[in-house]
Amino acid sequence: MPSWATLLLTLLAASLSATQAAPTRRDSQLSLAETIKALRDAPMAINRANILDYPGGYQFDFLNAKNSGLGKDGPFILADNGNFHAVIGNGMSMFMAFIGPCGMVPSHTHPRATELELIVAGGPMLTGIMTEAGGPYTVGYGNVTFFPLGSIHFQQNLGCDPAVLVAILNSENPGFSVISNTYFGLGNETVAASLGQAEETIPMAINLGQESCLQRCGIDRDTYDISAWSKLDFIRAAYKTVVDQH
Ligand SMILES: *[C@@H]1O[C@H](CO)[C@@H](O)[C@H](O)[C@H]1NC(C)=O
Ligand SMILES: *[C@@H]1O[C@H](CO)[C@@H](O)[C@H](O)[C@H]1NC(C)=O
Repeated sequence: MPSWATLLLTLLAASLSATQAAPTRRDSQLSLAETIKALRDAPMAINRANILDYPGGYQFDFLNAKNSGLGKDGPFILADNGNFHAVIGNGMSMFMAFIGPCGMVPSHTHPRATELELIVAGGPMLTGIMTEAGGPYTVGYGNVTFFPLGSIHFQQNLGCDPAVLVAILNSENPGFSVISNTYFGLGNETVAASLGQAEETIPMAINLGQESCLQRCGIDRDTYDISAWSKLDFIRAAYKTVVDQH
């Protein structure tokens, strides 16, 4: 005959193991959808913390992360709900770009986020916003610029050296939609009907930008390709320019 105390302990142990049975990313191989659901359903912060209690749960390594895009003139990485689960339910994400000489992030939009962007080193950076009175204007290192929700914008490094930039976006899933790719992705017949011709190769990531910059910096569009550079190579070269100027 179990005593009341034993019964209570058994019940307590059962309820504890029910709590511990809550899914965690560390213990089980949760899919992305299951991770998002578990974090959204977590009743308290401690439950979220348990789910995120695995190496990298609260830490995103931009230097070693898989690139979100890589062009001839550098990589960019977006840390969002897909690869950085701590942001799930918190409405934020972060973007980092390593932009080679004269490199350009082609005109794009984040359909679900406003962006605050810091030029960390290098530049100056020509940016423009395709909305009301949106430039283009140039920003230098140490300066922050702003792109409103859904606006079409671009970043063109006007420097003959690399630039590094970091941005915060107010959505955990901001989206990155390159205008030319999206538009031409409508299909050649639709595009041909609208424009009269269709393009085959459209840059998706950071590619060599404006012709005037390439000429000024002596860069040959056909042969120049620094896509094999490490991210540290970009940081070193971009900081060298800042240090050399001071
Ligand atoms: C940053 O912005 C300030 C104020 O607009 C400007 O004076 C400064 O030159 C900018 N920095 C760079 C490196 O361009
Ligand atoms: C669209 O592409 C298809 C397949 O490449 C081709 O057969 C067709 O002629 C193209 N249409 C137009 C309008 O360019």
